[in-house]
Amino acid sequence: MNTKARVAGLVLLAFSAVAPVLAQDSGADVYKAKCASCHGATGLADSGAGKAMKVKPATDPDVKKMTLDEMIAVTTDGKGKMPAYKGKLTDAQIKASVEFYRTFAK
Ligand code: HEC
Repeated sequence: MNTKARVAGLVLLAFSAVAPVLAQDSGADVYKAKCASCHGATGLADSGAGKAMKVKPATDPDVKKMTLDEMIAVTTDGKGKMPAYKGKLTDAQIKASVEFYRTFAK
């Protein structure tokens, strides 16, 4: 086996070991699957459902002043038209998706 093939093999091996973990727990993946329909692909609530429910964009001052823990509480227990994710997502998935959502506030 030449060096190039060996390196390619190692890279493949490393990737296949890491990929399932990413697919499960990545905040971006959870956000896209569960949150983007209402909060918009980039957190601006510019989707149809987001507009219909008057969801605030992540850049709104009221949203920006919320702490990570407050957002986790809203996502876990729900608020107004926002569904509760307790039991539907793991605590780690909720935290990861909220952290991803918060990256849009900047
Ligand atoms: C069915 C539409 C819907 C989905 C899906 C949804 N949300 Fe919301 N979300 C809302 C609405 C509506 C509010 C405003 C609630 C209020 O203030 O009465 C809200 C509020 C929030 C807030 C509080 C700050 C703000 O923007 O007002 C956070 C944080 C949040 N959502 C995160 C999430 C996360 C994370 C997910 C995915 C796990 C998610 N949401 C999925 C509709 C949704």
